[in-house]
Amino acid sequence: EKQGFSHFMAKEIFEQPQAIRATTSGRLPRAGEDDLGRGEPSFPELAELDVPALAARAKVTMLACGTSWHAALAGKYLFEQLARVPVEVDLASEFRYRQPIVRPGDLAVAISQSGETADTRAALMEARRLGATGLAICNVVDSSIAREADRVLYTHAGPEISVASTKAFTTQLAMLTLLAVHLGRRTGALTLERAAGLLDGLRELPVALDAVLGQAAAIEIIARRWRSARDWLYLGRGLAFPVALEGALKLKEISYVHAEGYACGEIKHGPIALVDERVPVVVLALEGPGYHKTLASLEEVRARGGKIIALASAGDRRIGDLADDVILVPQVDPYLQPILASVPLQLLAYHLARLEGRDVDQPRNLAKSVTVE
Ligand code: F6R
Repeated sequence: EKQGFSHFMAKEIFEQPQAIRATTSGRLPRAGEDDLGRGEPSFPELAELDVPALAARAKVTMLACGTSWHAALAGKYLFEQLARVPVEVDLASEFRYRQPIVRPGDLAVAISQSGETADTRAALMEARRLGATGLAICNVVDSSIAREADRVLYTHAGPEISVASTKAFTTQLAMLTLLAVHLGRRTGALTLERAAGLLDGLRELPVALDAVLGQAAAIEIIARRWRSARDWLYLGRGLAFPVALEGALKLKEISYVHAEGYACGEIKHGPIALVDERVPVVVLALEGPGYHKTLASLEEVRARGGKIIALASAGDRRIGDLADDVILVPQVDPYLQPILASVPLQLLAYHLARLEGRDVDQPRNLAKSVTVE
């Protein structure tokens, strides 16, 4: 059932083009549609939601744990930038105990692959008790969290067996992007042209993902080169920040190697003290609004002897001189980069864990769904 792959994790990483297609296809307007519909993803589930009021007088609270929390953090950037809807992101385990301010009219978005995470379920219940409408983004159909919510959006990623989440994460990102476009159209923050461009990008994303997966062998070589490192840093800014957090989590959970994700701008506030020639620093330096500032962070790390593994956009001619290793990904809209950029980091973690001889699919001390609080 691993279909020729040595681990479920590898199989699930390689399933991502198909999984993203499954998440998006039913919601995307037909290709080539030239009427007003081409910028409108389909969300009949949300027909009754008062989106202008949500943007003007209320807010979204996202609730999740672990990898799903990283998706939520990306969701905040997407919703706020594309739809101008205010978003808070809470770790589900913290939410109930901090006397959160939630009011009727708010929307609580619980994000969970399994739909069984106890903290996320309890947080969703609390948000609904306080008057919010509950929206679940789940992979497992008819799971507890799906049943607890007023509305459910399924990612349709297919079963995820490996404990380390991969396709569940990128499909959550795809769903949140679709949702941000939908909300942006309803608040008026997104023009039809811009929305249609993003939806076209989502439609074409599986092809770009195939190109990234085609680099698996090159990423394995990079993993071999750095396998003796015991501390890793992952840096990104903007939407690449949650991707950096997720890259670090992937590495620590399956290889038991210490890794931390940081926002680029934070490194000089502490973590740069960790940097020396034994520390590989994965820098997410894809082209886009934060590119030049990211390069400045990269230079700071390099000046302290840190070894740079850069994730960059195809066609970037500067990065080769600045980094020890470069992984290139196809150019896509900056809002779609998180989905694409996650994949090389999954592969890097996978190969490092495999080279260490770890039990990739069943890492020690971890369970696929955490049903206790
Ligand atoms: C990491 C991982 C966990 C889960 C977390 C939430 O690879 O799998 O961090 O993301 O336990 O699980 P769900 O999404 O099922 O609520």
